[in-house]
Amino acid sequence: VFSAGDFADHEQVVFVADEPSGLRAIIAIHDTTLGPALGGCRMYPYASEAEALRDVLRLSRGMTFKAAAANLDLGGGKAVIIGDPRTQKTPALLQAMGIAVERLGGRYITAEDVGTTVEDFGELHKKTKHVVGLPVELGGTGDPSPTTARGVYYGLLAAARHRWGEDQLAGKTVAVQGLGNVGWHLCELLHAAGAKLVVTDVDDKRVSRAVAAFGATSVPPEEIYGARADIFAPCAMGAILNDETLPLFRVEIVGGAANNQLALDHHGEALRARGILYAPDFVINAGGMIRVASEREGFDEALVDRNVKGIGDSLLAIFQRSESEGIQTNAAAMLLARERLSSAATHRL
Ligand code: NAI
Repeated sequence: VFSAGDFADHEQVVFVADEPSGLRAIIAIHDTTLGPALGGCRMYPYASEAEALRDVLRLSRGMTFKAAAANLDLGGGKAVIIGDPRTQKTPALLQAMGIAVERLGGRYITAEDVGTTVEDFGELHKKTKHVVGLPVELGGTGDPSPTTARGVYYGLLAAARHRWGEDQLAGKTVAVQGLGNVGWHLCELLHAAGAKLVVTDVDDKRVSRAVAAFGATSVPPEEIYGARADIFAPCAMGAILNDETLPLFRVEIVGGAANNQLALDHHGEALRARGILYAPDFVINAGGMIRVASEREGFDEALVDRNVKGIGDSLLAIFQRSESEGIQTNAAAMLLARERLSSAATHRL
């Protein structure tokens, strides 16, 4: 099922089993050149260990580039617990996972992810200190979503500057897909900045609230891609930039919080060919990660804000690189992240 290349660039992959609690998990540390490997711990009923392994290898690699692009002194890692979070999650299982994380001595730092909650991390935290994203009562920084939204907002300002010569969004129309934790906060920031909003969500109540709160126009979920707007901000699910949606777009900029927005790599090239400026997802949505990472050195709101504003600067460098080299923005972002990694590796020698 696997080829040698699947493991070629991982520093360490740990298989965890704890019979009394039924824990089966894999922790993948992809790269610690820039610092300890940070990444969420997912719980999912994978059909096989091979499927779980494939997921954790792919996700941990992605975290290395996300941290590098966000200028954080952190590496990339990820953990997966094999099991159904609705039926198999117990305090004993979570604590056994905490012990497994602790055994790595801080080389891997864990956080909440799909299938795990901040409350679960209270249990993990009983056995390891290498946890971030804890609730405020446990010494953490609480919900990262407003900070993620702020990063997306700064990223859109940078995109506006690159595309229209001015970093302001007053009078521009932004189509926001998804009014959840991040999408809602983003709407607040855009509305305060004088942008007009076109919104959609599968939850009608959220849509009505946005219409009332922001004077937004609403469209059914499938019509958001063709909405008449200047910017499309995907804040719901991934793979929304694909063969079906791209021909519908009338916007000039795409930038939002959703992970893995490009269905396939070549859709980044297709956006470029259509003259649409794409803010790579792993760069523009790093605000939450910047916030939780700051817990390690003592949370400092002003420093976090400076680093989150830095998302805009990183994007400007990416847009310029994309233009000067004639490559899609996603590829330019990867190049810059790889350069940061190799320069750090050289300095370490
Ligand atoms: P959320 O679950 O709070 O919000 C998602 C919203 O999208 C919900 O209101 C949901 O009803 C809506 N939605 C689902 N399917 C839809 C569809 N087909 N059309 C329109 N709306 C739909 O999630 P959250 O935390 O706001 O995150 C949004 C995205 O950003 C996710 O992809 C997440 O992985 C990503 N992200 C979130 C971060 C955070 O700090 N919360 C950090 C980095 C990425």
